[in-house]
Amino acid sequence: MASTRNKNFNAKLVLLGDVGAGKSSLVLRFVKGQFVDFQESTIGAAFFSQTLAVNDATVKFEIWDTAGQERYHSLAPMYYRGAAAAITVYDITSPASFARAKKWVQELKAQGNPSMVMALAGNKADLLEARQVTAEEAQKYSQENGLLFMETSAKTAINVNDIFYEIAKRLPSVQPAQNPPGMILLDRRADRTTNTSCCS
Ligand code: GTP
Ligand code: MG
Repeated sequence: MASTRNKNFNAKLVLLGDVGAGKSSLVLRFVKGQFVDFQESTIGAAFFSQTLAVNDATVKFEIWDTAGQERYHSLAPMYYRGAAAAITVYDITSPASFARAKKWVQELKAQGNPSMVMALAGNKADLLEARQVTAEEAQKYSQENGLLFMETSAKTAINVNDIFYEIAKRLPSVQPAQNPPGMILLDRRADRTTNTSCCS
């Protein structure tokens, strides 16, 4: 359960995954509520922010949407280092993108912050007829690797807000415990005015 104090946090979140898996589309859906059929491939990385209320905390996600093209791979550590959360994205119609996602997960486990909240998004869940990666397979992999797993669709908006919300709930800042060192989780505001329930 979350702490009963009101809290406001910034949390750095990175999206990783194959070219065309839908990283930018997920962010565009989450931040602006929009979807475009011809989203341009990301160059380098793009930055966005969005705030979510979770229990009695607000989490401001500082989102780095990285480029899936292989030539940008060496930049990725700049974005995932110090990140509080990562969403690795694959396309449910592309086994190659699922294989690429597993590589990202292994890289995050080897090089990332050990207390990072890690999620796996099986995107394009609206394209059911073209599915080539089963939800069972991805769920099993996620359980084995301690990932939060959801199938999402940036197009229909299914599970998009939900995956960010579930990540926010799992952030240490939303829990009563102290933040582990090295995490970018800054307390922006100590708001005592609406603290009716507890004891500090
Ligand atoms: P890079 O920036 O090149 O790494 O790709 P990306 O992962 O950011 O993918 P992007 O968001 O650019 O999406 C690639 C294509 O897939 C675009 O044409 C999107 O319109 C399409 N797309 C993204 N998400 C979905 C989805 O949930 N369903 C469907 N049907 N198409 C999607
Ligand atoms: Mg992109």
